[in-house]
This record gives sequence, C-alpha cells and structure tokens, in this order.
Amino acid sequence: MGEQIVTARFAMNSPTFPVHSENYRVRVQSIVPIARGTLTVEFVSANGSKLPAFSAGAHIDLHLPNGIKRSYSLCNAPTERGRYLIAVKKADPSRGASAYIHEQLAVGQVISISAPKNNFGLERNADLSVFIAGGIGVTPIWSMIQDREASQRPWRLYYAARTRGDAAFLSEIRMLADGRPDLLDIRFDHEPGVPILDVSAIVADHVGAGVHFYCCGPGPMLYAFEAATSGLIPTHAHLERFNAEPAPACAEARNEFDIVLARSSTRLHVADGKTVLETLLDAGIDIAYSCMSGVCGSCRVDVLEGIPDHRDMVLTNDERASNGAIMVCCSRSRTPRLVLDL
Ligand code: FES
Repeated sequence: MGEQIVTARFAMNSPTFPVHSENYRVRVQSIVPIARGTLTVEFVSANGSKLPAFSAGAHIDLHLPNGIKRSYSLCNAPTERGRYLIAVKKADPSRGASAYIHEQLAVGQVISISAPKNNFGLERNADLSVFIAGGIGVTPIWSMIQDREASQRPWRLYYAARTRGDAAFLSEIRMLADGRPDLLDIRFDHEPGVPILDVSAIVADHVGAGVHFYCCGPGPMLYAFEAATSGLIPTHAHLERFNAEPAPACAEARNEFDIVLARSSTRLHVADGKTVLETLLDAGIDIAYSCMSGVCGSCRVDVLEGIPDHRDMVLTNDERASNGAIMVCCSRSRTPRLVLDL
C-alpha cells in the first residue's frame, strides 16, 4: 500500500467540514513503532498554544523539510486538544514522504502542518456505525471508534491485516472492546487457514435504516465495499482512498485548453501532458495541493465557466454534474476554456 493520502483522502458521501488554509508549527513529541514498517508520530504545538479541534476521520497535511507535502489521517481521539497523532506505514517504493518520516524525522523537530480537514466524517446520530478496515486503513477508523465509544453510540469493527505484526493499534482496539468480543472481527489473512473478510456479507448482515458503513483499506477491499453498498442510500456508505489512479478521460476531453483566473483576468494555456495544477504552479500561483492524485481534495477550485473533465475521486456525483468545482491536480476540460475562481 502506498503512502497514506487521506485521507481523504476520497470520501464517498461523507459530511464535509470546512477547509482551513492556515498552517501551524508543530513539534515532534514522540515517534513510536507500532507495527511492522509502521510508526506513530505525535505532534504538539511548537509554541504551546492549543491545536485546532478536529473531528473523527480528519487528516492533516504535513509540509516536510524535503519539500514534500503529504496528508495523513489523525488517529487519536477527537476529544484530545493537545496533540495530533498520525500513523505512517513506510511505502515501498516511497514517493519521499514516508521514507523521510521513517528515516529522518526526529523527536524535537519542528515542521509545518495544515489545520485538520475532513472528507471522511462520521454521521454522529447513526444507530450503528460499521467500520471495515484493511491494513493501515485502520488509522482514521481508530479515531472514529474512539469517538463512537466516547459518544456511547454502537459500533462494529471488521479489520483485516496480513499478520498480527502488521496490525496497527491492535492492542488498543482489543482493550477498548474488552469484554465485548462481538464488536470485533479481526483477521490476519496471510496466516494459514484464515479467510479474507467478506465485505458483501458484512454489509448484508448489518444493513438497516440507521446504519452507516465506513471503509478504508486497499483497493480490492474498497471495490468490494463499493459493490456491496451500491444499493444502499448513498449517504450511508463512506469510503476513503489512499493513492488512486485517476479516472480515464472522457470522450470529450481536450488535450489542450486555456484556463482563465477570474480574479486577475489571467489566461494560461494548459499544454498536452501538463496538469492544471502544474500550469498554475509554473505561473507562480500559490495553490494548495497534497496527494496530486485526485483523492485528498486539497486542490479543489471553484469553476465559474466551462465544463471540467472530472478525473478525481473526491467529488460526489451531484458535484460532478453541477460542474461547479474541479480538482486541478488531475482533472482537465471538455471545453476550450475553463474560468476558475482564482
Ligand atoms: S485531490 Fe489531492 S492534490 Fe488534488
């Protein structure tokens, strides 16, 4: 599995919380190995002030000293205001972020992070929250479980890891569910004789009017989740991706097109092979981005005119149909010109 993009990563049909643009200076308080190739990094404010509140499922963007920006889910309890905790699995190969965090980031080091953002929010009033996690995908879900427990709302966890040694937060989860074994189905599916989680059966077993389903994990698990929840009320199925291949271009997609930045009346040409994001950065336009693969939502820009060729995994079907926004890291244009609210 690649570096974690939160989070968001793609969140299907989840409540969206406000996106803040401020950055914060934080100090690395601790770095702790928690599973094979995975460690937690704890951040506290560098100047002693309180960190912004977050909701379960949120992520932060790390601005690493090597120039790479990457998103990671927060995995501590949302009630905690004094620290942020992330879990980082070293990707193989790493695109630079997880390798830096594993090999160079040090306790005491100060870095910049974004305020928390959430594309994978919890439905707070659900009668039952059913969580399905694979591998390091458990990180946002562990925060969600802590929220459900603190709110005294029912939950179930289905968690698959290759082996016990690969399972992050295993002891913490088991401790939280102590005496309630019916809450957990944890599988180590690379161990002999262990069947993989049957996502379709999990959904079928729990489906009901007040039940919300959440899934974060590797691609095959997410595809199974999408198939299993396709007949549900769309707002009851919540999904978050890590890295993703951008969706294929539509038939009307243009290889080249212009973008107009409405606030300055600047016109830029997006050449074949260049993304809108690259074109903006080349022109010196300061714009937020993180995953560069259409899953985190950081680079969202409002569209004032024109029809995007949406290739991201963030926008809902309604948002795509309205053509009011574009993820500039991966999406392109169906029309000769896009006017952007920049
Ligand atoms: S969606 Fe992540 S940078 Fe564009």
